[in-house]
Amino acid sequence: STVPAETRLLSADSAGIAEAAAFLRAGRLVAFPTETVYGLGGDATEPVAVAAIYAAKTRPSFNPLISHLPDAESARRQGVFDAAANTLAEAFWPGPLTLVVPASAEIQVCDLARAGLPSVALRVPGSEAARALLSAFGRPVAGPSANRSGRVSPTRAAHVLEDLNGRIAAVLDGGDTQVGLESTVVACLSGRARLLRPGGITRERLRDVLGYDPAGPEDADSHAPVGPGLLASHYAPNARVRLDATRIAKGEAVLLFGAFRPEGFEQAHASMNLSERGDTVEAAARLFGALRDLDASGAQTIAVVPIPTEGLGEAIRDRLGRAAAPR
Ligand code: TXA
Ligand code: MG
Repeated sequence: STVPAETRLLSADSAGIAEAAAFLRAGRLVAFPTETVYGLGGDATEPVAVAAIYAAKTRPSFNPLISHLPDAESARRQGVFDAAANTLAEAFWPGPLTLVVPASAEIQVCDLARAGLPSVALRVPGSEAARALLSAFGRPVAGPSANRSGRVSPTRAAHVLEDLNGRIAAVLDGGDTQVGLESTVVACLSGRARLLRPGGITRERLRDVLGYDPAGPEDADSHAPVGPGLLASHYAPNARVRLDATRIAKGEAVLLFGAFRPEGFEQAHASMNLSERGDTVEAAARLFGALRDLDASGAQTIAVVPIPTEGLGEAIRDRLGRAAAPR
């Protein structure tokens, strides 16, 4: 298991930052101080590390996560910045602003961290400790707030330990955060910037820099993609998705989990196993790739065997349920 018995408390000096970066390189999770709240960090390019973030949150759902970068230059490599995104990045980075932009052709942030979306949420945090860690690690770090689901966001290392001691490798202690409230999330996807989540940068400051009042949010901090447009852009396979399949019709593609084989499995058009050993973290890490691959097989229907609800199973089932919803 990648979960240590006890979480290390690291001071935010050069030795602590080097240790924290080494944990991230090993695929482990490290909570880190930003100027807003502590983030639950993991390697955004590694689906297993990202799945472990969702698992550590305890009541997980695969909301798209923010990827943190040490500077605007490295953020620009992950996304496509239009005029509004460039203006906002120049005005507010480093700082409590997250930009949702189309993924670039060279994107390293994995599908799972983006919940299968064609866009990516990028942020250059304002705290020295965060940027030192991000520079030392050298890859994007996915980081939701470092609390268990349903609990308030942590603004000091002790809060993180209350929720996550024993569930993550380390906490980098940077003292109390300055802002204490999450970053403002702005989407720059269609020419005009749109406010998705209010936060550390006020609407007034956005307006001053943009020259117009950004629309939104319809649903403040729902922690879900906001608006029907974003929902529709969630990755949905072309094939129909059929859940809890215990028998297979000829020509269907099959998404397996564990050792269970549905009746008629021999006649499947194609199949993939999310996790031979029945591990929901491994299954989550493979989910989006498996849907894409089975879709590419050309099958009309992807039949999914029953997935258990424990661990990340609930979030996997939620995601598959959306993919199966009539459209
Ligand atoms: O201040 C913060 O933003 C903290 C610190 C740790 O950086 N992080 C944080 O992350 O609050 P999280 O994962 O709790 O919030 C991510 C927000 C959610 O509202 C999510 O829906 C939105 O960003 N988001 C991420 N990617 C998105 C995308 N591709 N499209 C639309 N919304 C997205
Ligand atoms: Mg949160």
